[in-house]
Parts: sequence; C-alpha cells; structure tokens
Amino acid sequence: MRRTVKTKPTRRSGASKQKMSSARRPVSKKPAAVWDQAAQWYDALVGLKGSEYQKSVIFPGAFAMLPLKKGDAVLDLACGQGVFSRYLSHEGMKVTGLDTSEEMIRFARSRPDKSIRYEQGDAQDSASLKGKTFDAVVCLLALQNIESLPPVMHNVRRWLKPGGRFVMVTTHPCFRIPRQTHWGWDAQKKIQYRRVDLYGSESAIPILTPPLAQSKIFTVTYHRPLQGYFQALAEAGLCVDGLEEWTSHKTSEPGQRSKAENRARKEIPLFLALRAVPAPSTDG
Ligand SMILES: C[S@@+](CC[C@H](N)C(=O)[O-])C[C@H]1O[C@@H](n2cnc3c(N)ncnc32)[C@H](O)[C@@H]1O
Repeated sequence: MRRTVKTKPTRRSGASKQKMSSARRPVSKKPAAVWDQAAQWYDALVGLKGSEYQKSVIFPGAFAMLPLKKGDAVLDLACGQGVFSRYLSHEGMKVTGLDTSEEMIRFARSRPDKSIRYEQGDAQDSASLKGKTFDAVVCLLALQNIESLPPVMHNVRRWLKPGGRFVMVTTHPCFRIPRQTHWGWDAQKKIQYRRVDLYGSESAIPILTPPLAQSKIFTVTYHRPLQGYFQALAEAGLCVDGLEEWTSHKTSEPGQRSKAENRARKEIPLFLALRAVPAPSTDG
C-alpha cells in the first residue's frame, strides 16, 4: 500500500544554519529550475572525474554491472554535469547524456570530450529522445530526485534495444532516508547502530544545498520503499536480474569507537544498485 508523508526541509552536510518555513512545498517546482540553481554547487562537488564515492564505489560498480563492449551506445540518464558520461566515453562507449537542467547540460558541454552528445529533456517525458535506442541505459544517483517513477521506467524500456540492460544506482532506500535514518551509539553493547524511523511511506524531502541556503532554494529527495522501484520496473516490462548493495570504502581514524564504526560501515550499505532487462515477452 502506498502512503505519502510530507516532511520539512533538511540540509546537505555543510549547510549553514537557517530558519525554514515548514509550509514550503517542493513538489510543484519544475525539476529543471531546481537543479539549474544547484548546478554550480554540484559541479564544484563532482568536478571533472567525480567525488570520492563516485570514483571509489559507484563508477566501477556500475560499469561492472553494465557489461559493455567498446562502441556500445549508452544513455546516461539524468547525467548532471556529465561526469559518468565522460567515464563511459573514456572506456570507448558512444554516449548520450540526458538531463532536465539546462545549467547542468551547459557544464557538461563545457568539458573537453566533444564526442558525447548531450540533450536537455525530462526523463519522465515520453517525447524525450524519441526514436532513439541504446545498448544500455544507466541512471546514477538521480531516480531519488525524480518525482514519478512509472513514466521514467516506461521510457527506459522504450530506449532499450533487444538484449539491452538498465542499471540504476540510488542512495540506499532502506538505510539512507534524509531525516529518517541516523547513526546511534549503544554504550552497553558498544556498537554503532543505524536507526530507521520511517521506511514504508513515500515522502518528498526538500534538501538545502550549502551555497543556496540564503536563497531558500532546495532540491528534493523522493523516498520510496524498495517495492516502489520493483513495481515501477515490472509495470514497464523490466525484470530485475541483478542487485548489489555497496558499502563505504572509508575507514575511521584509530580511536575508542573506530572498530565499531568500521564494523557498522561494512554492515550498512550506502548505495543500492539494480540491473533490469526487458522481460522475455516484451523483448524484441
Ligand atoms: C544528484 S544529480 C546526479 C547527476 C549524475 N547522474 C551524477 O551521478 O553525477 C541529479 C540529476 O538529476 C537530474 N534530474 C532531476 N529530475 C530529472 C528529470 N525529471 N529528468 C532528467 N533529469 C532529471 C538533475 O537535473 C540532476 O542533474
């Protein structure tokens, strides 16, 4: 059963303290406009080759799940400033990047690799990349920023060639829900645990990004339980044939709690990766 919960804005780490009105609702904002405002901050965070997590965990993990051969046509869905598009192009793929934000696309096009084709468009819109098909579609850290999954998954199915595959990576929907999950310390057992306050309800959570705190503009994380992803994939004729859960590559500095922190880091995954392929009856 689906329920939707509305929550107050939260901050990305590093944001300065600022009072927010709880009545502000993010869901009516156009995704392009929201991410246009965040593009400069995101570009500075990610740069040419990616953040630490992208380089150490997400890119190699997603690339291994895709299995591609040189020259394959790949769609980087919600490509942002093109960081994974560049990675794929460097590996010899023919890459198209699609993103709804004009500013993100502008940052992507300003980078040196001119063989990548970038288009501005909404992943939810059935008119986006009409008539185009790909050997693989990949969507990294972006489905949780898209309001409605069913139209995206139908588009993914439409964009896949027979034998194609779709790989999606999100922050883990069971353990990383803004405002609803936290680390805690159990002094008796001397363990670091993960507390989950809300999981089964869908929610739209506004997130302030640090340089935008003054302008009161925020991006939105849409939390949905695992079944929401599986349902949307199945309804679009996509079958999950791979699932991986990725933990942090980091370790704590030696200290009283470092052993417990490292254990918790290895037990509680940060990211969920799913691979889906066209269901047999819809392939081809
Ligand atoms: C957190 S960024 C991730 C970007 C990139 N995939 C990466 O890994 O660096 C989320 C991206 O999703 C894009 N986005 C949000 N809603 C979208 C939509 N409906 N269609 C296409 N892109 C969208 C935003 O513009 C933004 O670039």
